Amino acid sequence: MMPSTPKDIALLVFGTLFCLAAIPMDNSKGQQIRPPNYDESVVPKFELPSVLQSPIPLDIPSIGNDRPRIKTSAQWPAHRQALVAMLAEQEYGFLPTETVKVTSECFDDADAVLSGKTHSNIRRRQLAITLERNGKSLRIDMIVWSPRNRPNAPCFVGLNFRGNQSTCDDPSVRLTTSWCDQRHPGVENNRATEQSRANQSERWPIAEIVDQGFAVATAHYCDIDPDFDDGFENGIHGLYPDFRCDEQHPNRWGSIAAWAWGLSRMADVLVQLDGVKADALLVVGHSRLGKTALWAGATDERFRIVISNNSGCGGAALSKRAYGESVARINTSFPHWFNRNFRKYNDREEAMPFDQHQLIATIAPRPVYISSASNDRWADPLGEMLSGKEASAAYELLGKEGFAATELPAFNTPIGSTSIGYHLREGNHDMLLYDWQQFVAFAKRNGL
Ligand code: GCU
Repeated sequence: MMPSTPKDIALLVFGTLFCLAAIPMDNSKGQQIRPPNYDESVVPKFELPSVLQSPIPLDIPSIGNDRPRIKTSAQWPAHRQALVAMLAEQEYGFLPTETVKVTSECFDDADAVLSGKTHSNIRRRQLAITLERNGKSLRIDMIVWSPRNRPNAPCFVGLNFRGNQSTCDDPSVRLTTSWCDQRHPGVENNRATEQSRANQSERWPIAEIVDQGFAVATAHYCDIDPDFDDGFENGIHGLYPDFRCDEQHPNRWGSIAAWAWGLSRMADVLVQLDGVKADALLVVGHSRLGKTALWAGATDERFRIVISNNSGCGGAALSKRAYGESVARINTSFPHWFNRNFRKYNDREEAMPFDQHQLIATIAPRPVYISSASNDRWADPLGEMLSGKEASAAYELLGKEGFAATELPAFNTPIGSTSIGYHLREGNHDMLLYDWQQFVAFAKRNGL
């Protein structure tokens, strides 16, 4: 039948565009990748290993599901370590054990200027953190805002996407000199220009957070590892040429692990910094940096609260739900984010002997907060929430309250316990004031 009415024609055009969008994309080997699923009715049935079940042994991947469960809280620390090691082996990659020399120099200490106004109650410091190993060095610029009226403030620690200058309009903030994505405004020849100032300031409502008695520390993620696939030559990987993820070493650190490791180096400096409460660091991140915050929380227990916003595939979202972004898609678009072993599960999520709820569980008994956005189907809000629910058993074993919901809550209605919190913000993939207000409220409920 030929389309006759304007509505029919519109449907035909829309239908054609939709089908084109659903054409499988190719991975680097020319194999087709499954198109993303957005239909809840075709989410496959799947079983998840309990977070209390001992994880798949690193050297016997085919062992199946018949693995013993831990029964007491005394068994948790060793079990937690086994979960972290399994996730390092299968997904993020192991971190090098050899440390670097970390030094820092504060090159700026003044009142903050935010939205064109000087805030005498907010102290702004900029520190150059230098990492050195075997004659090579790397600089991370960290900016810290802290409340002058709370000398020992809990501190949010998170990476930013576009350089510290993108977080606010303060002309004193040093422009990042690291690689920047050419597609972002205010970037020329992969370098930030003055035009990039404040172009992500809506993600960093500094004055509002500090007014609540919290400090905020951030650094540009590309200071740690530029976000493109260069075979792990640049950034922090360049300081470890002897510890590169490659064909022979498929279980070594990818970029998410590197960024998480960078957060730990920021923590090294923050725990010594006056004005910051050393045992009250809250690691936070959005999207790929939300995945990073979760892995930082898994690998570094100094992070007392862990917050992931819209972290999606490889973050909070359960891979086995096969909804939104898939393992094959993420590994193809971003081949440097995870280790090589993770590619084994491209379009084979059903074969994964693990899933992201085990990542959430590694944070127990420390509080974890997961947030989603209603329009962010790519990140699978329900899958993000359910991994919190599935991690509950670990919290309950440790005497904490878990998370019971199995269906998404109404928009802008935080749910959960003081141990596992969740909200679904109405709107797009982003991290906005509403999200931060919930993070602050969660931190306060946890006594910070
Ligand atoms: C892409 C990617 C996501 C990621 C996001 C981001 O959309 O597919 O996995 O979370 O970028 O970091 O902004």
